[in-house]
Amino acid sequence: MTRIVITGANRGIGLEFVKQYAQEGAEIYALCRSPEEAAELKSIQGDIHIHKVDVTHESECQRFADELDEKSIDILINNAGVYGGDKQSLSNLDFDKFHATLETNLFGPLYMTTALYKNVKDSDNGKIITISSKMGSIGDSSGGMAIYRTSKTAINMAMHALASEAANDNVVFLNLHPGWVQTDMGGEQAPTTPPESVEGLRKVIAKANMTDSGHFYDFQGNELPW
Ligand SMILES: NC(=O)c1ccc[n+]([C@@H]2O[C@H](COP(=O)([O-])OP(=O)(O)OC[C@H]3O[C@@H](n4cnc5c(N)ncnc54)[C@H](OP(=O)(O)O)[C@@H]3O)[C@@H](O)[C@H]2O)c1
Repeated sequence: MTRIVITGANRGIGLEFVKQYAQEGAEIYALCRSPEEAAELKSIQGDIHIHKVDVTHESECQRFADELDEKSIDILINNAGVYGGDKQSLSNLDFDKFHATLETNLFGPLYMTTALYKNVKDSDNGKIITISSKMGSIGDSSGGMAIYRTSKTAINMAMHALASEAANDNVVFLNLHPGWVQTDMGGEQAPTTPPESVEGLRKVIAKANMTDSGHFYDFQGNELPW
Protein backbone atom coordinates (compact mmCIF):
# COMPACT_ATOMS: atom_id res chain seq x y z
CA MET A 1 0.00 0.00 0.00
CA THR A 2 1.23 3.48 -0.85
CA ARG A 3 1.81 5.72 2.18
CA ILE A 4 1.41 9.44 1.47
CA VAL A 5 1.84 12.66 3.49
CA ILE A 6 0.02 15.79 2.28
CA THR A 7 0.38 19.26 3.82
CA GLY A 8 -2.43 21.83 3.67
CA ALA A 9 -4.86 18.95 3.29
CA ASN A 10 -8.02 20.66 4.56
CA ARG A 11 -9.02 22.60 1.42
CA GLY A 12 -8.21 23.31 -2.22
CA ILE A 13 -5.68 21.16 -4.05
CA GLY A 14 -4.51 19.40 -0.87
CA LEU A 15 -8.04 18.26 -0.01
CA GLU A 16 -8.51 16.97 -3.57
CA PHE A 17 -5.27 14.98 -3.29
CA VAL A 18 -6.68 13.32 -0.17
CA LYS A 19 -9.97 12.46 -1.94
CA GLN A 20 -8.29 10.95 -4.99
CA TYR A 21 -5.53 9.04 -3.19
CA ALA A 22 -8.11 7.71 -0.67
CA GLN A 23 -10.10 6.28 -3.59
CA GLU A 24 -6.91 4.57 -4.76
CA GLY A 25 -6.70 2.91 -1.35
CA ALA A 26 -3.59 4.75 -0.16
CA GLU A 27 -2.71 5.23 3.51
CA ILE A 28 -2.81 9.00 3.93
CA TYR A 29 -1.38 11.33 6.55
CA ALA A 30 -3.40 14.51 6.02
CA LEU A 31 -1.77 17.49 7.74
CA CYS A 32 -3.50 20.77 8.47
CA ARG A 33 -3.29 23.69 10.87
CA SER A 34 -6.76 23.29 12.41
CA PRO A 35 -8.06 19.70 12.35
CA GLU A 36 -11.00 20.73 14.54
CA GLU A 37 -12.28 22.92 11.68
CA ALA A 38 -11.53 20.46 8.87
CA ALA A 39 -15.08 19.09 8.45
CA GLU A 40 -14.79 18.15 4.77
CA LEU A 41 -11.46 16.41 5.29
CA LYS A 42 -12.88 14.43 8.21
CA SER A 43 -15.85 13.30 6.09
CA ILE A 44 -13.65 11.53 3.48
CA GLN A 45 -13.78 7.74 3.71
CA GLY A 46 -10.52 5.83 3.71
CA ASP A 47 -7.31 5.11 5.57
CA ILE A 48 -6.78 8.74 6.57
CA HIS A 49 -4.86 9.97 9.61
CA ILE A 50 -5.29 13.67 10.35
CA HIS A 51 -2.46 15.47 12.16
CA LYS A 52 -2.10 19.09 13.24
CA VAL A 53 0.94 20.62 11.53
CA ASP A 54 1.62 24.25 10.71
CA VAL A 55 4.49 23.98 8.21
CA THR A 56 6.03 27.26 9.38
CA HIS A 57 6.82 25.63 12.74
CA GLU A 58 9.87 23.44 12.35
CA SER A 59 9.13 21.84 15.72
CA GLU A 60 5.65 20.73 14.57
CA CYS A 61 7.13 19.18 11.40
CA GLN A 62 9.68 17.35 13.54
CA ARG A 63 7.04 16.26 16.07
CA PHE A 64 5.01 14.74 13.22
CA ALA A 65 8.13 12.90 11.99
CA ASP A 66 8.60 11.56 15.53
CA GLU A 67 4.96 10.38 15.54
CA LEU A 68 5.56 8.51 12.28
CA ASP A 69 8.51 6.85 13.94
CA GLU A 70 10.10 4.32 11.54
CA LYS A 71 7.24 4.24 9.00
CA SER A 72 8.49 4.68 5.43
CA ILE A 73 6.80 7.33 3.28
CA ASP A 74 6.34 6.75 -0.45
CA ILE A 75 5.16 10.24 -1.38
CA LEU A 76 5.51 13.52 0.53
CA ILE A 77 3.43 16.28 -1.06
CA ASN A 78 4.49 19.76 0.04
CA ASN A 79 1.26 21.48 -0.94
CA ALA A 80 0.52 24.11 1.74
CA GLY A 81 1.01 27.61 0.40
CA VAL A 82 -0.07 31.24 0.62
CA TYR A 83 -0.31 34.00 -1.96
CA GLY A 84 1.30 36.83 -0.02
CA GLY A 85 -1.43 39.47 0.00
CA ASP A 86 -2.16 42.37 -2.32
CA LYS A 87 0.83 44.64 -1.59
CA GLN A 88 3.40 43.12 -3.93
CA SER A 89 4.42 46.06 -6.14
CA LEU A 90 7.50 48.29 -6.27
CA SER A 91 5.55 51.20 -4.79
CA ASN A 92 3.76 49.10 -2.20
CA LEU A 93 5.75 46.13 -0.98
CA ASP A 94 4.66 44.56 2.32
CA PHE A 95 7.86 43.19 3.87
CA ASP A 96 6.09 41.56 6.80
CA LYS A 97 3.97 39.57 4.34
CA PHE A 98 7.12 38.85 2.31
CA HIS A 99 8.79 37.25 5.33
CA ALA A 100 5.63 35.32 6.24
CA THR A 101 5.22 34.07 2.67
CA LEU A 102 8.79 32.82 2.56
CA GLU A 103 8.18 31.05 5.89
CA THR A 104 5.25 29.14 4.37
CA ASN A 105 6.24 28.64 0.71
CA LEU A 106 10.02 28.26 1.09
CA PHE A 107 10.90 27.18 4.64
CA GLY A 108 7.70 25.14 5.20
CA PRO A 109 8.50 22.59 2.46
CA LEU A 110 12.12 22.51 3.61
CA TYR A 111 11.18 21.87 7.26
CA MET A 112 8.90 19.03 6.13
CA THR A 113 11.43 17.60 3.69
CA THR A 114 14.31 17.52 6.14
CA ALA A 115 12.11 16.17 8.96
CA LEU A 116 10.74 13.31 6.80
CA TYR A 117 13.74 12.63 4.58
CA LYS A 118 14.76 9.44 6.36
CA ASN A 119 11.19 8.09 6.10
CA VAL A 120 11.08 8.83 2.35
CA LYS A 121 14.52 7.34 1.82
CA ASP A 122 13.31 4.16 3.52
CA SER A 123 10.66 3.68 0.81
CA ASP A 124 11.67 1.58 -2.23
CA ASN A 125 10.30 4.33 -4.46
CA GLY A 126 10.32 7.55 -2.42
CA LYS A 127 9.16 10.83 -3.97
CA ILE A 128 9.20 14.38 -2.60
CA ILE A 129 6.72 16.54 -4.47
CA THR A 130 6.55 20.30 -4.10
CA ILE A 131 3.52 22.12 -5.44
CA SER A 132 5.21 25.13 -6.89
CA SER A 133 3.86 27.51 -9.55
CA LYS A 134 4.65 28.61 -13.07
CA MET A 135 4.61 32.09 -11.50
CA GLY A 136 7.99 31.14 -10.01
CA SER A 137 9.50 30.58 -13.44
CA ILE A 138 11.87 33.41 -14.37
CA GLY A 139 11.95 32.10 -17.95
CA ASP A 140 8.18 32.24 -18.22
CA SER A 141 7.34 35.27 -16.13
CA SER A 142 5.18 38.21 -17.06
CA GLY A 143 6.22 40.09 -13.90
CA GLY A 144 4.25 41.50 -10.96
CA MET A 145 3.32 39.67 -7.71
CA ALA A 146 6.95 39.79 -6.57
CA ILE A 147 6.35 38.14 -3.17
CA TYR A 148 4.57 35.06 -4.44
CA ARG A 149 6.82 34.65 -7.49
CA THR A 150 10.00 34.98 -5.41
CA SER A 151 8.81 32.38 -2.90
CA LYS A 152 8.13 29.86 -5.67
CA THR A 153 11.40 30.60 -7.53
CA ALA A 154 13.25 30.10 -4.25
CA ILE A 155 11.64 26.76 -3.43
CA ASN A 156 12.24 25.58 -7.00
CA MET A 157 15.95 26.24 -6.61
CA ALA A 158 16.12 24.73 -3.12
CA MET A 159 14.47 21.48 -4.24
CA HIS A 160 16.54 21.39 -7.43
CA ALA A 161 19.70 21.72 -5.35
CA LEU A 162 18.63 19.00 -2.89
CA ALA A 163 17.60 16.64 -5.70
CA SER A 164 21.14 16.05 -6.91
CA GLU A 165 22.24 15.18 -3.36
CA ALA A 166 19.37 12.69 -3.11
CA ALA A 167 20.29 10.83 -6.31
CA ASN A 168 22.34 8.24 -4.42
CA ASP A 169 19.40 7.60 -2.10
CA ASN A 170 17.03 6.86 -4.99
CA VAL A 171 14.66 9.65 -3.90
CA VAL A 172 12.85 11.58 -6.66
CA PHE A 173 12.31 15.32 -6.19
CA LEU A 174 9.70 17.01 -8.40
CA ASN A 175 8.51 20.62 -8.55
CA LEU A 176 5.00 20.73 -10.03
CA HIS A 177 2.73 23.49 -11.34
CA PRO A 178 -0.92 22.51 -10.75
CA GLY A 179 -2.35 24.85 -13.41
CA TRP A 180 -4.53 27.82 -12.57
CA VAL A 181 -7.01 26.07 -10.32
CA GLN A 182 -10.45 26.94 -8.89
CA THR A 183 -9.60 27.17 -5.20
CA ASP A 184 -9.67 29.96 -2.62
CA MET A 185 -6.25 30.97 -3.96
CA GLY A 186 -6.96 30.54 -7.67
CA GLY A 187 -10.44 32.09 -7.62
CA GLU A 188 -13.64 31.11 -9.42
CA GLN A 189 -12.46 32.32 -12.83
CA ALA A 190 -9.62 29.77 -12.97
CA PRO A 191 -9.97 27.42 -15.97
CA THR A 192 -8.99 24.19 -14.20
CA THR A 193 -11.00 22.39 -11.51
CA PRO A 194 -9.26 20.73 -8.54
CA PRO A 195 -10.24 17.22 -9.78
CA GLU A 196 -8.72 17.93 -13.23
CA SER A 197 -5.55 19.37 -11.75
CA VAL A 198 -5.02 16.56 -9.26
CA GLU A 199 -5.79 13.81 -11.79
CA GLY A 200 -3.01 15.24 -13.95
CA LEU A 201 -0.61 15.74 -11.04
CA ARG A 202 -1.16 12.14 -9.87
CA LYS A 203 -0.26 10.84 -13.33
CA VAL A 204 2.94 12.93 -13.41
CA ILE A 205 3.86 11.74 -9.90
CA ALA A 206 3.12 8.07 -10.67
CA LYS A 207 5.28 7.94 -13.76
CA ALA A 208 8.21 9.98 -12.41
CA ASN A 209 11.52 8.18 -11.95
CA MET A 210 15.08 9.22 -11.12
CA THR A 211 15.63 10.75 -14.58
CA ASP A 212 12.87 13.28 -13.76
CA SER A 213 14.32 14.19 -10.37
CA GLY A 214 15.04 17.89 -9.91
CA HIS A 215 12.80 18.86 -12.84
CA PHE A 216 9.82 21.23 -13.03
CA TYR A 217 6.62 20.02 -14.76
CA ASP A 218 3.04 21.19 -15.09
CA PHE A 219 0.01 19.02 -14.31
CA GLN A 220 -0.12 17.85 -17.93
CA GLY A 221 3.46 16.58 -17.82
CA ASN A 222 5.03 19.44 -19.81
CA GLU A 223 8.49 20.49 -18.63
CA LEU A 224 8.65 24.16 -17.59
CA PRO A 225 11.57 26.59 -17.88
CA TRP A 226 13.19 27.65 -14.62
N1 LIG B 1 -4.83 27.59 -7.15
C1 LIG B 1 -3.96 27.89 -8.08
O1 LIG B 1 -4.31 28.40 -9.16
C2 LIG B 1 -2.49 27.58 -7.88
C3 LIG B 1 -1.63 27.82 -8.95
C4 LIG B 1 -0.29 27.52 -8.79
C5 LIG B 1 0.18 27.00 -7.61
N2 LIG B 1 -0.68 26.79 -6.57
C6 LIG B 1 -0.11 26.23 -5.34
O2 LIG B 1 -0.87 25.09 -4.95
C7 LIG B 1 -0.80 24.92 -3.53
C8 LIG B 1 -2.21 24.76 -2.97
O3 LIG B 1 -2.93 25.94 -3.31
P1 LIG B 1 -4.53 26.03 -3.30
O4 LIG B 1 -4.92 26.66 -4.57
O5 LIG B 1 -5.13 24.74 -2.88
O6 LIG B 1 -4.70 27.13 -2.15
P2 LIG B 1 -5.80 27.31 -1.00
O7 LIG B 1 -7.12 26.82 -1.46
O8 LIG B 1 -5.64 28.71 -0.56
O9 LIG B 1 -5.29 26.30 0.15
C9 LIG B 1 -4.05 26.54 0.76
C10 LIG B 1 -3.81 25.43 1.78
O10 LIG B 1 -2.54 25.66 2.39
C11 LIG B 1 -2.74 25.63 3.80
N3 LIG B 1 -1.74 26.41 4.52
C12 LIG B 1 -1.42 27.71 4.36
N4 LIG B 1 -0.45 28.07 5.25
C13 LIG B 1 -0.18 26.95 5.97
C14 LIG B 1 0.72 26.64 7.02
N5 LIG B 1 1.53 27.58 7.54
N6 LIG B 1 0.76 25.38 7.51
C15 LIG B 1 -0.05 24.41 7.00
N7 LIG B 1 -0.94 24.64 6.03
C16 LIG B 1 -1.00 25.90 5.51
C17 LIG B 1 -4.14 26.18 4.01
O11 LIG B 1 -4.58 25.86 5.32
P3 LIG B 1 -5.57 26.85 6.17
O12 LIG B 1 -6.98 26.46 5.77
O13 LIG B 1 -5.23 26.55 7.59
O14 LIG B 1 -5.25 28.26 5.77
C18 LIG B 1 -4.86 25.43 2.90
O15 LIG B 1 -5.11 24.10 3.30
C19 LIG B 1 -0.07 26.15 -2.99
O16 LIG B 1 1.27 25.84 -2.73
C20 LIG B 1 -0.19 27.15 -4.13
O17 LIG B 1 0.85 28.10 -4.13
C21 LIG B 1 -2.01 27.06 -6.68
